[in-house]
Amino acid sequence: MTYPEVNTYEDIAALSQAAADRINGLAVRALAERGRFYLALSGGSTPLGAYRLLGQLWSGQPELLAGIHFFWGDERLVPPDDPRSNYGQARAAMSGLSLPESHLHRIQTELGADAATEAYDRELDNLGLSDAGRPFFDCVLLGLGRDGHTASLFPDRPSLAEKNRLVVTELKPGLEPNVARITLTLPALNSTQETIFMAAGPDKAAALRYCAAPEADPNPHYPASMIKPAGGRLVFMLDQAARRA
Ligand code: 6PG
Repeated sequence: MTYPEVNTYEDIAALSQAAADRINGLAVRALAERGRFYLALSGGSTPLGAYRLLGQLWSGQPELLAGIHFFWGDERLVPPDDPRSNYGQARAAMSGLSLPESHLHRIQTELGADAATEAYDRELDNLGLSDAGRPFFDCVLLGLGRDGHTASLFPDRPSLAEKNRLVVTELKPGLEPNVARITLTLPALNSTQETIFMAAGPDKAAALRYCAAPEADPNPHYPASMIKPAGGRLVFMLDQAARRA
C-alpha cells in the first residue's frame, strides 16, 4: 500500500459516502479489538455530509454507538450554539444521535481561550493521550485549507513546533472565520492509528500537490504535511476537482 493512500471520488456525495463507510468500518474493528472507538472530528464544511450519513447509520446501532467517544481536533472560540462552532456543526449534522455527555469530549469555549485550552489539555492527558505505547485515537479526521493548514495549525506558526503540550491557543488564524482557535498540536493529532483527510474543490489542489505527495517532507509552510499518524495509516479522500493536479 502506498503512503499516503490517496482515493479520489466523483464528487462530494461519493466522497462523503466513502468516508462514512470507512469510518464506520474502523469503528466496528476498534470496538471488536479494544471495546471503544476514539474518533477526533474535523471542523469545516467538507466532512458534514459524512457526519450526516454516520448519524443516520449509528442512530440505528445503539450498541455500537455506546462505545464511541467523540473528540474535536480544533474549535473556534465561539459558543457551542454559534453557527461557526465545529462542535455545533457536527452535532447538528448528527442530530439523530442520542449520546451520553461523557462520550462528547468538546472544547469548552465558554471558559475563555486560556482556561478552555488548559481544560482540554488536562482532559486528554487524564484520558491517557500522553501515555507511551498504543496511539490514543483510533481515527483522526482532518480537513485541508487552501494554504495547507489543518485543524487550526496554520503555516509557519509557533504551534507547529510544540512538542509537549497537547492543546494550544492560536490567536492569529489569518483566515475566516477570523476568531481565536483552540487546536490539538501535532503530537496529539499524530497519536492515532489512522488519519483521514477529506478535501474537495479546486482551491485545495495546490496544497494537495505537496501534502499528498508520496513521503512528503514535513514542512511548516504546509502544516498538513507534518501529519504523520503513529499507527501509520494516512489516507486522503478527495473529489475529482481537488485531485486535478
Ligand atoms: C476549521 C477546520 C479547518 C478546516 C479547513 C477546511 O476549524 O475550520 O478545522 O482545518 O478543516 O479549513 O475547511 P473546509 O472543509 O470548510 O474547506
